[in-house]
Parts: sequence; structure tokens; C-alpha cells
Amino acid sequence: MSTENGLVIENLSKTFYTRHKSIEALKGINLRVEMGKFINIIGPSGCGKSTLLRCIAAFEKPTSGRLMLNGAESSEPGIDRMMVFQNFEQLFPWHTVRKNVLFALNVTARLSSKAEKKGLARIIILIWLA
Ligand SMILES: Nc1ncnc2c1ncn2[C@@H]1O[C@H](COP(=O)(O)OP(=O)(O)O)[C@@H](O)[C@H]1O
Ligand SMILES: [Mg+2]
Repeated sequence: MSTENGLVIENLSKTFYTRHKSIEALKGINLRVEMGKFINIIGPSGCGKSTLLRCIAAFEKPTSGRLMLNGAESSEPGIDRMMVFQNFEQLFPWHTVRKNVLFALNVTARLSSKAEKKGLARIIILIWLA
């Protein structure tokens, strides 16, 4: 696949350092996801799934390795990536999933047309969140 189009992760590692120990949450992760593809990341609790997503969202800084999005090094959070947190206190419980997802996009005014909103609703339905 073209590295210009999609997500490319190369040799990504993430170690958390606490006062008493270090925890190697991710080591040598390589992943390529083409634009428009859906993938699942499956593994036992504590294997690093959330850490990987948080690195992709740039909420965590990898200890080493590279993370490229559409050909550019990705180091800051952006509205081109969306993460729905497991902790639902970070969502608006009085809104639907669709309205929660649309909220940030409406605030940044980057998703204005009806067609775009309709497209997003379709994707949410596709991944069975709605
Ligand atoms: N902020 C953090 N500080 C220290 N250790 C962490 C932190 N976040 C995750 N970890 C540790 O990293 C490992 C992977 O965690 P996580 O990515 O949450 O796994 P998963 O989502 O697959 O259950 C676990 O051992 C977890 O305890
Ligand atoms: Mg998790």
C-alpha cells in the first residue's frame, strides 16, 4: 500500500515509568491500515489496546517508533482521528452516540454539510454503535 494513504505504525514502543517500576505496554508494534479499511484490535485485558489507540490519537507520546497518518508524522491530537472512550463519563449521557460524535465536529465547524453528517451516521451504524 502507499504510505501516503492511511495509517502506518513502525516499531512503536511505549513504556510507562512509575516511581517504583517501568511497564512496557507496547513493544515493536508494526501496523498498516489503508484508508477506508476497518480493523479490530483484540487481546486480553492489559495487553496494550488502549495505549495503542491513545498513541494513534496522540493522547500519549510513544517512547520510540514512528506513527504516520496520510504520509505525515502524527504527534498532536486532531479532528482527523476520533476516539470514543470506554469511560462513558466523558460522553454526554443525554445525547445519542451520533450526537456525541457530531458534537466535537460541530464545535470545530469542520463537518457542516448534511451529506457529511449523513455519511458519519452511516459509519456509526456500520460499526454497530447505534
Ligand atoms: N498511564 C499509565 N501508567 C502506568 N501504566 C499504565 C498506564 N496506562 C496503561 N498502563 C499499563 O499498560 C499496560 C497496557 O494497558 P492498556 O493499554 O490499558 O491495556 P488494554 O487496553 O489492552 O486493557 C497495562 O499493564 C497497564 O497497567
Ligand atoms: Mg483498554
